[in-house]
Amino acid sequence: MNNEKTHLLVIDDEVNYLLVLETLLRDAGYEVTALSDPETALAFLDDSEVDVVITDMKMPRVSGGEVLARVKKNWPHIPVLIMTAFGSIESAVDLMKQGATNYITKPFSNDELLLSVQNAAELARMHRQYRILHESLEDRYGKHRIIGNSRAMRELMSLVDRAAPSRATVLITGESGTGKELVARAIHFASQRSHEPFVSVNCMAFNSGVLESELFGHEKGSFTGAVAMRRGRFEQADGGTLFLDEVGELSPELQVKLLRVLQERSFERVGGSAEIQVDIRVVTATNRDLLAMVHAGTFREDLYYRLNVVHIPLPPLRERREDIPLLVAHFTEKCCKENDLPLKTFSTEALNYLVGYEWPGNVRQLQNVVERCVVLVSGQEITLEQLPPEIRDEEAQFKSAVDLLPVQLDLADTLERIEAALIRRALVRADFIQANASKLLGISKSLMQYKLKKYGITGH
Ligand SMILES: Nc1ncnc2c1ncn2[C@@H]1O[C@H](COP(=O)(O)OP(=O)(O)OP(=O)(O)O)[C@@H](O)[C@H]1O
Ligand SMILES: [Mg+2]
Repeated sequence: MNNEKTHLLVIDDEVNYLLVLETLLRDAGYEVTALSDPETALAFLDDSEVDVVITDMKMPRVSGGEVLARVKKNWPHIPVLIMTAFGSIESAVDLMKQGATNYITKPFSNDELLLSVQNAAELARMHRQYRILHESLEDRYGKHRIIGNSRAMRELMSLVDRAAPSRATVLITGESGTGKELVARAIHFASQRSHEPFVSVNCMAFNSGVLESELFGHEKGSFTGAVAMRRGRFEQADGGTLFLDEVGELSPELQVKLLRVLQERSFERVGGSAEIQVDIRVVTATNRDLLAMVHAGTFREDLYYRLNVVHIPLPPLRERREDIPLLVAHFTEKCCKENDLPLKTFSTEALNYLVGYEWPGNVRQLQNVVERCVVLVSGQEITLEQLPPEIRDEEAQFKSAVDLLPVQLDLADTLERIEAALIRRALVRADFIQANASKLLGISKSLMQYKLKKYGITGH
């Protein structure tokens, strides 16, 4: 990672000595937070990003040993360097056993200190890379397989494969729960950036001011509460992919800032003036109609075109029902494995209902239903009666469909239109095999043929 300073937290109860250390380390190019009270320092660790902790050993109330123990417990990846005036071999060995990275005995020369700090900083950098790699591996081989064999999904996968290697920004759209985040990850892991970080930010989860510092970071003291420099997500994603979810929620000010980063590949932290260069690939997602927002003047047109270089629309699940059995099998297997259960199955009848349901919450809803059934049903087979009522309840589905019709209508004409629509739907669902479609509708083949003729419905 470039453009970043290693952030040191120095703890020593002797204020004058602390000041000397602070100046020395800052002059050596480190970002330094110096605190004389260990409790304050531990609280500081809670909401700041610290790379290395340097602490004195002998302090009233809270000792260096205790600081070490608490850091190792809560932030095991942060190296701790101990300064001790009592360089007895036993206590030094003890400290190393408890996880201290190194210790230096007071009084020490400047060079001695700087060398130890440099080693600890290097260790911190390795830890960070390891964590990123570890998360990447997990992402790659674990959770993020896209399931689907419908034409729509096959086209989508081919689009992902073609878009992934480039640096082009990608806009993913689709209803809630259709798999937008999954696709964003798939793009990252199919790209050359796959060993670099994938950083995801949900723009709806923060208010505008907080989001700005979340994205771009801030300098120490840039606003009340900015007690230390903080790197933003853009810096964290350097070299990798930044995924901005719910991008339609960005305020006009942040839209301008985002546009600038996309154009110039650089930005400043909040309250800072230093230009920070980043190499990132931006992928965004939304379930809102961005183009309509552009027309309404709430989303910048220039930004829209920057984000929409490659557009990946995700179809709702009800438009690719042939994927439902595959998804059901996938989620069943995964859930049984995770809960140490023998593999369960859905009865044919139950599966038919799952395939026929409208799935307003798309794949996420399907996943929840499958998991609920797998966990709650004790037998090996999950039957129709054991599906959640909203899926099984034909009466409720029928009623809500009827509720959508206008009140004033011509009864005969409406019934005919509904009949024609149902026949068309059955044909689509039966892959245009008339015999199967007539079975779905519970009518004879000859009646089916008569109706097809009557409504002028032909093959595809
Ligand atoms: N094709 C798929 N194969 C396997 N799992 C999927 C598929 N599509 C979605 N999922 C799973 O469904 C859940 C919802 O997907 P995801 O979070 O990507 O949806 P989303 O479009 O981002 O939803 P939202 O708009 O609500 O944020 C996740 O657990 C995801 O792993
Ligand atoms: Mg999402």
